[in-house]
Amino acid sequence: MKGRLQGSIKGEVLAREPLSHHTYFRIGGPAEVMAYPADLDDLKALLKVARDEAIPVLILGGGSNMLVLDGGIKGLVINLSRSFLELSAAEERIRCGAGVRTSRLLAFSAKTGLTGLEGLSGVPGTVGGAIHGNAGTPFGAISDHLEWVRLVDCLGEERFMSREELSLGYRHCQLPTGAVIVEAAFTLQRGMSAEIRRTISKLLVRRNLTQPVDIRSAGCIFKNPPGNFAGRLVEQAGLKGLRHGEAQISEKHGNFIVNLGKATAADVLRLANRAKADVLLRTGVALELEIEIVGSPSAA
Ligand code: EPU
Repeated sequence: MKGRLQGSIKGEVLAREPLSHHTYFRIGGPAEVMAYPADLDDLKALLKVARDEAIPVLILGGGSNMLVLDGGIKGLVINLSRSFLELSAAEERIRCGAGVRTSRLLAFSAKTGLTGLEGLSGVPGTVGGAIHGNAGTPFGAISDHLEWVRLVDCLGEERFMSREELSLGYRHCQLPTGAVIVEAAFTLQRGMSAEIRRTISKLLVRRNLTQPVDIRSAGCIFKNPPGNFAGRLVEQAGLKGLRHGEAQISEKHGNFIVNLGKATAADVLRLANRAKADVLLRTGVALELEIEIVGSPSAA
Protein backbone atom coordinates (compact mmCIF):
# COMPACT_ATOMS: atom_id res chain seq x y z
CA MET A 1 0.00 0.00 0.00
CA LYS A 2 2.88 2.37 0.82
CA GLY A 3 4.26 2.22 -2.74
CA ARG A 4 0.88 2.92 -4.35
CA LEU A 5 0.21 5.85 -2.07
CA GLN A 6 3.71 7.28 -2.50
CA GLY A 7 3.24 7.07 -6.26
CA SER A 8 0.09 9.23 -5.99
CA ILE A 9 1.37 12.17 -3.93
CA LYS A 10 4.26 14.61 -3.53
CA GLY A 11 4.29 14.39 0.28
CA GLU A 12 5.96 11.73 2.40
CA VAL A 13 4.50 8.25 3.03
CA LEU A 14 5.76 6.06 5.90
CA ALA A 15 5.01 2.42 6.70
CA ARG A 16 4.50 1.10 10.23
CA GLU A 17 5.01 4.53 11.75
CA PRO A 18 4.71 4.47 15.58
CA LEU A 19 1.82 6.73 16.54
CA SER A 20 3.41 7.25 19.94
CA HIS A 21 5.65 9.73 18.07
CA HIS A 22 2.61 11.73 17.01
CA THR A 23 0.31 11.88 20.04
CA TYR A 24 0.54 14.22 23.04
CA PHE A 25 0.19 11.16 25.25
CA ARG A 26 3.28 9.56 23.59
CA ILE A 27 1.19 6.39 23.49
CA GLY A 28 -0.07 4.30 20.57
CA GLY A 29 0.86 1.40 18.29
CA PRO A 30 1.90 1.87 14.65
CA ALA A 31 -0.06 3.20 11.71
CA GLU A 32 -0.01 0.63 8.90
CA VAL A 33 0.74 3.61 6.63
CA MET A 34 1.02 7.32 7.44
CA ALA A 35 0.93 9.96 4.72
CA TYR A 36 1.67 13.68 4.84
CA PRO A 37 -0.25 15.38 2.01
CA ALA A 38 1.74 18.36 0.73
CA ASP A 39 -1.36 20.19 -0.48
CA LEU A 40 -5.03 19.89 -1.39
CA ASP A 41 -4.31 17.81 -4.52
CA ASP A 42 -2.34 15.32 -2.42
CA LEU A 43 -5.16 15.09 0.09
CA LYS A 44 -7.70 14.44 -2.67
CA ALA A 45 -5.40 11.83 -4.25
CA LEU A 46 -5.00 10.01 -0.93
CA LEU A 47 -8.75 9.99 -0.33
CA LYS A 48 -9.32 8.68 -3.85
CA VAL A 49 -6.91 5.74 -3.45
CA ALA A 50 -8.48 4.96 -0.09
CA ARG A 51 -11.96 5.12 -1.61
CA ASP A 52 -11.06 2.99 -4.64
CA GLU A 53 -9.35 0.33 -2.52
CA ALA A 54 -11.64 0.50 0.52
CA ILE A 55 -8.74 1.43 2.83
CA PRO A 56 -9.88 2.80 6.19
CA VAL A 57 -8.73 6.38 6.83
CA LEU A 58 -7.99 8.22 10.04
CA ILE A 59 -7.25 11.94 10.01
CA LEU A 60 -4.60 13.07 12.48
CA GLY A 61 -4.27 16.71 13.46
CA GLY A 62 -2.09 17.55 16.46
CA GLY A 63 -2.77 14.21 18.20
CA SER A 64 -3.70 16.03 21.38
CA ASN A 65 -7.15 14.70 22.16
CA MET A 66 -6.63 11.13 21.11
CA LEU A 67 -5.75 7.80 22.67
CA VAL A 68 -4.36 5.40 20.07
CA LEU A 69 -4.63 1.82 21.27
CA ASP A 70 -1.54 -0.37 21.58
CA GLY A 71 -2.22 -2.51 18.47
CA GLY A 72 -2.10 0.60 16.28
CA ILE A 73 -4.20 1.53 13.27
CA LYS A 74 -4.94 -0.57 10.23
CA GLY A 75 -5.16 1.38 7.00
CA LEU A 76 -4.12 4.93 6.25
CA VAL A 77 -3.44 7.72 8.72
CA ILE A 78 -3.42 11.11 7.00
CA ASN A 79 -1.25 13.48 9.00
CA LEU A 80 -2.26 17.10 8.42
CA SER A 81 0.33 18.69 10.69
CA ARG A 82 2.71 19.67 7.85
CA SER A 83 0.18 21.18 5.46
CA PHE A 84 -2.71 23.66 5.37
CA LEU A 85 -0.63 26.13 7.35
CA GLU A 86 -1.81 29.41 5.75
CA LEU A 87 -2.98 32.29 7.94
CA SER A 88 -4.33 35.61 6.71
CA ALA A 89 -6.39 38.49 8.03
CA ALA A 90 -8.65 40.86 6.10
CA GLU A 91 -10.87 43.36 7.88
CA GLU A 92 -12.25 41.50 10.91
CA ARG A 93 -11.86 38.01 9.47
CA ILE A 94 -9.03 35.52 9.94
CA ARG A 95 -8.70 32.63 7.49
CA CYS A 96 -6.70 29.76 8.86
CA GLY A 97 -5.48 26.44 7.45
CA ALA A 98 -6.59 23.34 9.34
CA GLY A 99 -3.01 22.30 10.15
CA VAL A 100 -2.20 25.56 11.99
CA ARG A 101 -1.59 25.09 15.73
CA THR A 102 -4.26 26.73 17.89
CA SER A 103 -1.49 28.58 19.76
CA ARG A 104 -0.24 30.03 16.46
CA LEU A 105 -3.75 31.18 15.51
CA LEU A 106 -3.98 32.98 18.86
CA ALA A 107 -0.58 34.62 18.42
CA PHE A 108 -1.65 35.75 14.94
CA SER A 109 -4.93 37.19 16.26
CA ALA A 110 -2.93 39.16 18.84
CA LYS A 111 -0.50 40.42 16.20
CA THR A 112 -3.30 41.55 13.92
CA GLY A 113 -5.29 43.08 16.81
CA LEU A 114 -8.35 40.88 16.38
CA THR A 115 -10.03 39.83 19.61
CA GLY A 116 -12.35 36.92 20.43
CA LEU A 117 -10.20 33.80 20.43
CA GLU A 118 -8.34 34.38 23.73
CA GLY A 119 -10.54 31.90 25.64
CA LEU A 120 -8.80 29.13 23.69
CA SER A 121 -5.46 29.90 25.36
CA GLY A 122 -3.68 26.67 26.20
CA VAL A 123 -5.86 24.47 23.98
CA PRO A 124 -3.33 22.19 22.27
CA GLY A 125 -3.44 20.68 18.79
CA THR A 126 -4.41 22.01 15.39
CA VAL A 127 -7.30 24.25 14.37
CA GLY A 128 -8.83 21.45 12.26
CA GLY A 129 -8.74 19.07 15.22
CA ALA A 130 -10.11 21.74 17.55
CA ILE A 131 -13.10 22.34 15.27
CA HIS A 132 -13.68 18.59 14.83
CA GLY A 133 -14.23 18.28 18.61
CA ASN A 134 -15.36 21.89 19.20
CA ALA A 135 -12.52 22.26 21.70
CA GLY A 136 -12.56 25.00 24.29
CA THR A 137 -12.37 26.09 27.89
CA PRO A 138 -14.93 27.71 30.18
CA PHE A 139 -13.74 30.99 28.62
CA GLY A 140 -14.66 30.10 25.06
CA ALA A 141 -14.95 27.41 22.42
CA ILE A 142 -13.46 27.38 18.93
CA SER A 143 -17.00 27.58 17.52
CA ASP A 144 -17.78 30.91 19.22
CA HIS A 145 -16.43 33.02 16.34
CA LEU A 146 -16.36 30.41 13.61
CA GLU A 147 -17.91 31.65 10.36
CA TRP A 148 -17.36 28.72 7.99
CA VAL A 149 -15.18 25.70 7.30
CA ARG A 150 -13.91 24.50 3.94
CA LEU A 151 -13.70 20.75 3.68
CA VAL A 152 -13.11 17.90 1.29
CA ASP A 153 -15.98 15.44 1.48
CA CYS A 154 -15.86 11.67 1.13
CA LEU A 155 -16.22 11.95 -2.66
CA GLY A 156 -13.24 14.28 -2.87
CA GLU A 157 -15.39 17.37 -3.52
CA GLU A 158 -14.51 20.67 -1.88
CA ARG A 159 -17.31 22.49 -0.12
CA PHE A 160 -17.98 25.18 2.43
CA MET A 161 -20.17 24.70 5.48
CA SER A 162 -21.43 27.59 7.58
CA ARG A 163 -21.43 27.41 11.36
CA GLU A 164 -25.21 26.91 11.33
CA GLU A 165 -24.78 23.73 9.30
CA LEU A 166 -22.36 22.15 11.77
CA SER A 167 -24.82 21.51 14.67
CA LEU A 168 -22.25 22.87 17.12
CA GLY A 169 -22.60 22.07 20.79
CA TYR A 170 -20.47 21.41 23.86
CA ARG A 171 -17.45 19.52 22.48
CA HIS A 172 -19.57 18.57 19.50
CA CYS A 173 -19.42 19.36 15.78
CA GLN A 174 -21.40 17.43 13.18
CA LEU A 175 -19.26 17.01 10.07
CA PRO A 176 -20.35 14.84 7.14
CA THR A 177 -18.91 11.30 7.44
CA GLY A 178 -15.41 11.10 5.98
CA ALA A 179 -15.09 14.88 5.52
CA VAL A 180 -11.70 16.51 6.16
CA ILE A 181 -11.53 20.15 7.23
CA VAL A 182 -8.84 22.06 5.32
CA GLU A 183 -9.56 25.68 6.26
CA ALA A 184 -11.70 27.78 8.59
CA ALA A 185 -12.70 31.42 8.87
CA PHE A 186 -13.31 33.32 12.11
CA THR A 187 -15.14 36.63 12.42
CA LEU A 188 -13.60 38.67 15.23
CA GLN A 189 -13.61 42.21 16.56
CA ARG A 190 -11.02 44.95 16.53
CA GLY A 191 -9.00 45.02 19.74
CA MET A 192 -5.64 46.08 21.13
CA SER A 193 -2.75 43.69 20.53
CA ALA A 194 -1.26 44.34 23.99
CA GLU A 195 -4.59 43.65 25.70
CA ILE A 196 -5.12 40.42 23.75
CA ARG A 197 -1.59 39.25 24.66
CA ARG A 198 -2.20 40.08 28.34
CA THR A 199 -5.41 38.01 28.41
CA ILE A 200 -3.69 35.06 26.71
CA SER A 201 -0.78 35.17 29.22
CA LYS A 202 -3.16 35.39 32.19
CA LEU A 203 -5.09 32.32 31.03
CA LEU A 204 -1.88 30.39 30.36
CA VAL A 205 -0.60 31.15 33.86
CA ARG A 206 -3.90 29.90 35.31
CA ARG A 207 -3.72 26.74 33.25
CA ASN A 208 -0.12 26.08 34.28
CA LEU A 209 -1.13 26.39 37.93
CA THR A 210 -4.07 23.99 37.72
CA GLN A 211 -3.03 21.39 35.12
CA PRO A 212 -0.11 18.94 34.82
CA VAL A 213 1.27 20.73 31.75
CA ASP A 214 4.80 19.35 32.20
CA ILE A 215 3.79 15.66 31.99
CA ARG A 216 2.48 13.82 28.93
CA SER A 217 -1.33 13.59 28.79
CA ALA A 218 -4.19 14.04 26.33
CA GLY A 219 -5.76 16.99 28.15
CA CYS A 220 -9.03 16.35 29.93
CA ILE A 221 -10.15 12.73 29.71
CA PHE A 222 -13.87 13.28 30.37
CA LYS A 223 -16.36 15.93 29.32
CA ASN A 224 -17.68 18.01 32.20
CA PRO A 225 -21.15 16.68 33.08
CA PRO A 226 -23.92 19.30 33.16
CA GLY A 227 -23.57 21.50 36.26
CA ASN A 228 -20.44 19.76 37.56
CA PHE A 229 -16.76 19.18 36.84
CA ALA A 230 -15.26 15.79 36.02
CA GLY A 231 -12.01 16.74 37.81
CA ARG A 232 -13.87 17.53 41.01
CA LEU A 233 -15.90 14.29 40.87
CA VAL A 234 -12.76 12.19 40.36
CA GLU A 235 -11.07 14.02 43.24
CA GLN A 236 -14.09 13.49 45.51
CA ALA A 237 -13.98 9.76 44.67
CA GLY A 238 -10.46 9.78 46.17
CA LEU A 239 -8.78 8.71 42.93
CA LYS A 240 -6.14 11.41 42.39
CA GLY A 241 -2.69 9.85 42.22
CA LEU A 242 -4.01 6.34 41.49
CA ARG A 243 -1.58 4.44 39.23
CA HIS A 244 -1.82 1.58 36.81
CA GLY A 245 1.49 0.64 35.21
CA GLU A 246 3.04 3.94 34.25
CA ALA A 247 -0.26 5.75 33.85
CA GLN A 248 -1.57 7.85 36.72
CA ILE A 249 -4.64 9.94 37.50
CA SER A 250 -2.90 13.28 37.90
CA GLU A 251 -2.24 14.44 41.45
CA LYS A 252 -2.77 17.99 40.22
CA HIS A 253 -6.04 17.69 38.27
CA GLY A 254 -8.48 14.78 38.54
CA ASN A 255 -9.60 14.97 34.90
CA PHE A 256 -6.11 14.26 33.56
CA ILE A 257 -4.41 10.90 33.17
CA VAL A 258 -0.66 11.33 32.78
CA ASN A 259 1.95 9.11 31.17
CA LEU A 260 4.81 8.82 33.65
CA GLY A 261 7.08 7.20 31.06
CA LYS A 262 6.11 4.00 29.32
CA ALA A 263 2.37 3.86 29.95
CA THR A 264 0.32 1.81 27.51
CA ALA A 265 -3.12 2.64 26.17
CA ALA A 266 -4.40 -0.33 28.18
CA ASP A 267 -3.06 1.29 31.40
CA VAL A 268 -4.85 4.54 30.56
CA LEU A 269 -8.13 2.81 29.72
CA ARG A 270 -8.01 0.83 32.95
CA LEU A 271 -7.71 4.07 34.96
CA ALA A 272 -10.41 5.84 32.93
CA ASN A 273 -12.81 2.91 33.42
CA ARG A 274 -12.05 2.81 37.14
CA ALA A 275 -12.72 6.56 37.47
CA LYS A 276 -15.96 6.22 35.52
CA ALA A 277 -17.15 3.27 37.61
CA ASP A 278 -16.27 4.85 40.97
CA VAL A 279 -17.88 8.21 40.12
CA LEU A 280 -21.02 6.45 38.88
CA LEU A 281 -21.28 4.35 42.01
CA ARG A 282 -20.65 7.30 44.31
CA THR A 283 -22.75 9.98 42.63
CA GLY A 284 -24.87 8.41 39.88
CA VAL A 285 -23.14 10.64 37.32
CA ALA A 286 -22.06 8.81 34.14
CA LEU A 287 -18.90 10.50 32.91
CA GLU A 288 -18.47 10.60 29.16
CA LEU A 289 -15.05 10.43 27.49
CA GLU A 290 -13.85 13.62 25.85
CA ILE A 291 -10.83 12.00 24.20
CA GLU A 292 -11.25 9.98 21.05
CA ILE A 293 -10.15 6.34 21.27
CA VAL A 294 -8.91 4.84 18.01
CA GLY A 295 -7.14 1.70 16.79
CA SER A 296 -7.01 -1.92 17.93
CA PRO A 297 -6.17 -3.09 21.45
CA SER A 298 -3.60 -5.59 20.16
CA ALA A 299 -1.64 -6.18 16.97
CA ALA A 300 -3.60 -8.08 14.29
N1 EPU B 1 -11.50 20.76 40.44
C1 EPU B 1 -11.38 19.98 41.55
N2 EPU B 1 -10.44 18.98 41.54
C2 EPU B 1 -9.64 18.75 40.47
C3 EPU B 1 -9.77 19.55 39.32
C4 EPU B 1 -10.73 20.56 39.33
O1 EPU B 1 -12.07 20.14 42.54
O2 EPU B 1 -8.80 17.84 40.54
C5 EPU B 1 -12.49 21.86 40.46
C6 EPU B 1 -11.77 23.21 40.43
O3 EPU B 1 -11.44 23.64 41.72
C7 EPU B 1 -12.82 24.09 39.80
C8 EPU B 1 -13.55 23.16 38.84
O4 EPU B 1 -13.27 21.83 39.27
O5 EPU B 1 -13.72 24.55 40.74
C9 EPU B 1 -13.13 23.34 37.39
O6 EPU B 1 -11.74 23.09 37.24
P1 EPU B 1 -10.86 23.82 36.12
O7 EPU B 1 -10.97 25.29 36.25
O8 EPU B 1 -9.52 23.20 36.15
O9 EPU B 1 -11.58 23.50 34.76
P2 EPU B 1 -12.13 22.15 34.16
O10 EPU B 1 -13.59 22.31 33.97
O11 EPU B 1 -11.66 20.95 34.91
C10 EPU B 1 -11.91 22.99 31.72
C11 EPU B 1 -11.64 22.32 30.40
C12 EPU B 1 -10.14 22.25 30.17
C13 EPU B 1 -9.58 23.66 30.16
C14 EPU B 1 -9.87 24.30 31.52
C15 EPU B 1 -9.40 25.74 31.54
C16 EPU B 1 -13.34 20.60 29.96
C17 EPU B 1 -13.68 19.16 30.04
N3 EPU B 1 -12.15 20.95 30.46
O12 EPU B 1 -11.40 22.15 32.75
O13 EPU B 1 -9.94 21.70 28.88
O14 EPU B 1 -8.19 23.66 29.93
O15 EPU B 1 -11.29 24.27 31.75
O16 EPU B 1 -9.68 26.32 32.75
O17 EPU B 1 -14.10 21.40 29.43
C18 EPU B 1 -9.42 19.78 27.60
O18 EPU B 1 -10.47 20.00 27.01
O19 EPU B 1 -8.63 18.86 27.27
C19 EPU B 1 -9.11 20.62 28.74
C20 EPU B 1 -8.10 20.34 29.52
